[in-house]
Amino acid sequence: MVPLKRRKVAGNNSVAEQGGDKTPPKFPEVFLFLLERKMGASRRAFLSQLGRKKGFQVEELFSTSVTHIISENNSGDEVRAWLDSQDRTRRCPAPLHLLDISWFTESMSAGHPVQILDRHKVQDALSLLAENAELSDQDGRGVAFRRAAAVMKSLPEPVTSMTQLRGLPCLGEHSLRVIRDVLENGASREVESMKQSKQYKALKVLTGVFGVGAKTAARWIREGIHTLHQLRNSGHTLNRAQQAGLEHYDDLNQQVSKAEAEAIQQIVEEVVASVLPGAKVTLTGGFRRGKLMGHDVDFLITHPEEGKEVGLMSKVVSWLESQGFLLYQKTTRNSYLVSDDSPALPPSNMDRFERCLSIFKLAQDQPHRAKQLGALPLDTAEHRRGDSGLQTDQDSCSQRIQTPGGQEDTKPWRAVRVDLVVSPISQFAFAVLGWTGSKLFERELRRWAGQEKAMSLSSHALYDNKKRKYLQASSEEEIFAHLDLEFIPPSERNA
Ligand code: CTP
Ligand code: MN
Ligand code: MN
Repeated sequence: MVPLKRRKVAGNNSVAEQGGDKTPPKFPEVFLFLLERKMGASRRAFLSQLGRKKGFQVEELFSTSVTHIISENNSGDEVRAWLDSQDRTRRCPAPLHLLDISWFTESMSAGHPVQILDRHKVQDALSLLAENAELSDQDGRGVAFRRAAAVMKSLPEPVTSMTQLRGLPCLGEHSLRVIRDVLENGASREVESMKQSKQYKALKVLTGVFGVGAKTAARWIREGIHTLHQLRNSGHTLNRAQQAGLEHYDDLNQQVSKAEAEAIQQIVEEVVASVLPGAKVTLTGGFRRGKLMGHDVDFLITHPEEGKEVGLMSKVVSWLESQGFLLYQKTTRNSYLVSDDSPALPPSNMDRFERCLSIFKLAQDQPHRAKQLGALPLDTAEHRRGDSGLQTDQDSCSQRIQTPGGQEDTKPWRAVRVDLVVSPISQFAFAVLGWTGSKLFERELRRWAGQEKAMSLSSHALYDNKKRKYLQASSEEEIFAHLDLEFIPPSERNA
């Protein structure tokens, strides 16, 4: 978790570099590789040098000899995504340890490679419990487990015993029980049996359908529906979102890459520029935080002249639709009125901007086809076998289609979830801050505003309850300053 720090804290203490001669490798079986991503080139160089002085072999380039990959501020998924992007022929055949910087610093101060501990297992267990709570419509418990996982992630040193956890915030009785189980037995029995349960598996499958929330999934499970096949044959009338969700199930459950996000950004920018010159498109959500993968792509659109943005969304959507870029869209009108909305009310998690939840049809590079940029017209959708998406059996094979010649081929496009939001320029800074996330970070920030500053922060505005007035801001930096906080860049808001 990123600790919120008050502003004007003393500057960085730079670590004095120590002199000394090179020593021969003390641990011939250990080859470290420090991931530059997020660590930065100069810190990486400094840490590499430090490692070598302590007798470790630190590789400059990634190669088959690497045994330990050290990263800083990257999630496990991000490191694995990076690893996947490496030349496979150079991949290490031996098991590779993906480790956090804490393992490195711990090993440096110990003077030898320390035992790789179960902290990440603890984090995984708590995250799974959080997920299960959220899927079961128990958001309060979900938040509690997410906070506990974030606290475990933020600890400066490996956890070997429960006594180290005394006095830490956010670790409730239940979380502590899970942590003890992992430390003592290597795994949490509760989490292991949850993962195997029919209920959990069914919840995961059903809430994986776009348009299906925890409540709906739970109701279907009570009716005995556990699989997509059973859902299709249940005779339930599905709404438009759910039909699209079922039809594009595989695509929508596949992560979106940074490159795909950029391709969509290019399309959105072109459309916006052509319907309203001067309007600005900003990539928000996880990709703005520097994530390499996401579940969707989020954009915020504004115009430097207040009022010019009115009516923009419907034009953008019509244009996208006419060009065959949209497989599904639902636009919600702006319902925020400064004068009508009492800022003294606790800010709701939902904002009231004009927004469009959509599914894009994104052309993909094909090994056997000519490269195509942008989307394809809808009527080339060769996958549309059967007369309705509900009757086709695409659960596990929507990536494969039959070409007219009967050959199997990969379909030339994929479905991607895209969120478009339009904000007037006067609320833009608040909207960017609110739509950059992460959700846990937003929650902590709003809590800070309310509890420490008696202010109400939303994606629209910041209201000072004591001065009884709105505080204006034209950048995220100004909002942090109003809140008396040091600025936290997007890449550090992943907690
Ligand atoms: N958000 C919001 N109102 C919504 C949905 C989302 O304000 N109805 C905000 C969330 O608070 C979050 C941001 O939009 O800060 C992005 O949400 P989302 O796309 O769900 O999550 P990401 O952080 O982008 O993660 P992912 O990569 O999984 O998409
Ligand atoms: Mn997102
Ligand atoms: Mn989103």
